[in-house]
Amino acid sequence: MSARILSTSPLVGPALAELGARFPDLRLASFRSPEWHAALPQAEALVVLLSEPIAEADLEAAPKLKAIGTYSVGVNHLPVKACQTRGIAVVNTPGVLTDATADLALALLLALTRRVAEGEALVRSGAWKGWAPDQLLGPGLAGKACGILGSGPIGLAFARRAWALGMTPVFWDREGRGGEVDFGAGRAPRLPLADLLARSAVLSLHCPLTDQTRGLLDRAALEKLPKGAVIINTARGGLMDENAAVDLLESGRLGGVGLDVYEGEPRVNPRWFQAPRAVLLPHLGSATVETRETMARLLCEGLATALGSPSR
Ligand code: DGY
Repeated sequence: MSARILSTSPLVGPALAELGARFPDLRLASFRSPEWHAALPQAEALVVLLSEPIAEADLEAAPKLKAIGTYSVGVNHLPVKACQTRGIAVVNTPGVLTDATADLALALLLALTRRVAEGEALVRSGAWKGWAPDQLLGPGLAGKACGILGSGPIGLAFARRAWALGMTPVFWDREGRGGEVDFGAGRAPRLPLADLLARSAVLSLHCPLTDQTRGLLDRAALEKLPKGAVIINTARGGLMDENAAVDLLESGRLGGVGLDVYEGEPRVNPRWFQAPRAVLLPHLGSATVETRETMARLLCEGLATALGSPSR
């Protein structure tokens, strides 16, 4: 099977089909299927999902490759440096999933602190006996500090949401910058990581997974959080030591953990299934119809640019 553009998914919306109309040699093949491997030698562009890691060996098997497009903003599953060395463009989808991801982080925060999943399960079980003064109480958020790791667009969008709840955003970024961040609804300080952790009643992760940020929240870092702190991770699982987080939940040191991402996903560390005060979602950060359609459009535009004019 030969293909100029080799995609593992039709994506959402018409964008990929439209790209296929411009560049007729477009093929769909499941990631790492025999058909996918067979098409690599002729492929000039690949389209992959965030769950489909590309290795340097794949680049070697694809000598005609001009671009890899990922249907995600994150590029941690791609050999970015090797692509740069070989002049292969990496096309991702920044800027268009900012609000969707910040919204989902907020949904996790409220689900966790207002015990939405437990309440829903109680009603569905038929065991609910009625309103009670101390039923399913959770911590309030107004007036508390919200630590945000990453001051990119999603971190800023989450800060606006935290601010709207009456929280006080504080930032850390991987460049280790000081000063203030203008998050659109106000200004907030950038702090050293240890200082931010020590004061964050809520900690939300919004930085990319890189060699520098992998394991950023190790056990020692997690232990710096105030007792009862809540962690929300809609970024990447590898940022946090998940076993340490479960230990701290089980001991009552952490107040809750809301996850949309997992180290090694779709495998989920089975300890999460038993963990108290954890809300677990299946990587839904960008999962709105509009966002996924816009991501597909942006990705396909980037690929068309990288491929140049369609051959007739
Ligand atoms: C991405 O696009 O990298 C996000 O993880 C989607 O939720």
